[in-house]
Amino acid sequence: MPDAVETLDRLIRTRRTTKLLDPDTPVDPEVVAGLCELATWAPNHRRTEPWRFAVFTGDGRRVLGDTIAEEMVRHDAHEAKVLKTRTKYLRSACVVVIGSIAGPDEVTTAENRDAVAAGVSNLLLGATARGLATLWSSVATPTSPALLDLCGFPEGTFAVGAVYLSHPAGTEPAGRRSAPLIRWID
Ligand SMILES: Cc1cc2nc3c(=O)[nH]c(=O)nc-3n(C[C@H](O)[C@H](O)[C@H](O)COP(=O)(O)O)c2cc1C
Repeated sequence: MPDAVETLDRLIRTRRTTKLLDPDTPVDPEVVAGLCELATWAPNHRRTEPWRFAVFTGDGRRVLGDTIAEEMVRHDAHEAKVLKTRTKYLRSACVVVIGSIAGPDEVTTAENRDAVAAGVSNLLLGATARGLATLWSSVATPTSPALLDLCGFPEGTFAVGAVYLSHPAGTEPAGRRSAPLIRWID
């Protein structure tokens, strides 16, 4: 098997979601920008290039948490969850919020999200290849105008994830997957 195939397969199987993140060692901004660029190589139908990125470091992480938390309060979220949201992004040196812009119709909007999810996967794999630790976290208020405004995303954007990106603070045990369910039709 060619080396590149083995390397890629190993990389895909090595990537893990982890909370073993070093919040204190900054991630090189050029590396972060390069990972966002890698994300944009994902397939995207009609070449809509639907991805948008907002990078939070330093006190920006607290602003991100507070912005989402305030929206959760407006939606009567459980107090403990709101409190956790205010500080949870401080667990990572860098957090990249990735948005998917709305399309002119429902199908395009859905396909945009599919494309952005594929882009997030590129970003995670690129980070893994560079020895960085990642966690793809859902955003509690993915369409909140205050969040979109903070991120500089256009109206109608959906925040597909907040990716924690840090130097590792430990080693996550190896992952496992069930065998794929495949029906072969001849
Ligand atoms: C759309 C999406 C949202 C996710 N949201 C969270 C989250 O909010 N918190 C979390 O700890 N992990 C989240 N994850 C990560 C999954 O929990 C993780 O991929 C899964 O447990 C498998 O672990 P692995 O990534 O190490 O293989 C999310 C993954 C996806 C694809």
